Amino acid sequence: MLILPDPLILIFNFWKLLNCTQELSLYICAFNNHTIINLLKMLNLVLFGPPGSGKGTQSEKIIEKYELIHLSTGDILRGEIANKTDLGLQAQEIMAKGELVSDEIVIGMIKNKLEANQAAKGFIFDGFPRTVAQAEALDELLKSFNHDITGLVSLNVDKEELIQRLLIRGQASGRADDKLETIKKRISVYEKQTAPVANYYEKQEKYYPVEGMGGIDEIFDRIVSVINKLNQ
Ligand code: AP5
Repeated sequence: MLILPDPLILIFNFWKLLNCTQELSLYICAFNNHTIINLLKMLNLVLFGPPGSGKGTQSEKIIEKYELIHLSTGDILRGEIANKTDLGLQAQEIMAKGELVSDEIVIGMIKNKLEANQAAKGFIFDGFPRTVAQAEALDELLKSFNHDITGLVSLNVDKEELIQRLLIRGQASGRADDKLETIKKRISVYEKQTAPVANYYEKQEKYYPVEGMGGIDEIFDRIVSVINKLNQ
């Protein structure tokens, strides 16, 4: 007996296929039951730099221009704290001291977000990866979805400027970690545990330093010129 496929499924798959072929770059569409997975050409950026270098500020502008999904582990953790979840309770004290939350916790958070957004044009990772172990885990995770990191854009800002920016923000934001001693601790944690992540991507020829001093819009223009080259 011949079993005809559900016409609605056919229409849905045809519509998804049309969407795929409309993309400017090369996409390969694969059928997985009723789902189509984009196998190539996501724009996945790591926005990198020490505390106060402008990652959050520039991420907002980048996601608007390139329609990417913003994944900030700091924002996710602060959300967990605000909601008083078990994870938030674990993270609160660590963050207030300016130390890093465990790799296991943040990798799990990122995995959930990637799984939930597989049809995205790409992601901007802000504040993640923060250790080489996190960078390795991110590569593995993206590989399991047939994607990879397009590039790491690193914002270079003088230490004195970082401290000034965060002290000014602390006066208004009430962020528990925007106090002088904790800011210094966060910068030192960055230098010891996070800076090696840049070398990890440099070895993959995916490291793009950008001058992070100056006005927000001029820094954004510098970032855009890097992204546009990566996105050709
Ligand atoms: P997270 O939230 O990631 O904080 P951070 O890395 O310390 O970064 P900030 O948000 O302080 O700075 P930013 O670079 O985003 O700069 P922004 O644009 O905000 O992490 C917080 C904590 O969570 C960590 O310490 C850790 O405990 C934990 N955590 C997070 N991710 C983790 C991970 N992956 N693993 C383990 N633990 C993790 O700008 C700062 C200020 O400067 C703003 O007021 C802004 O308006 C101003 N500003 C920006 N640009 C300019 C400019 N060009 N000129 C003047 N002012 C500017």
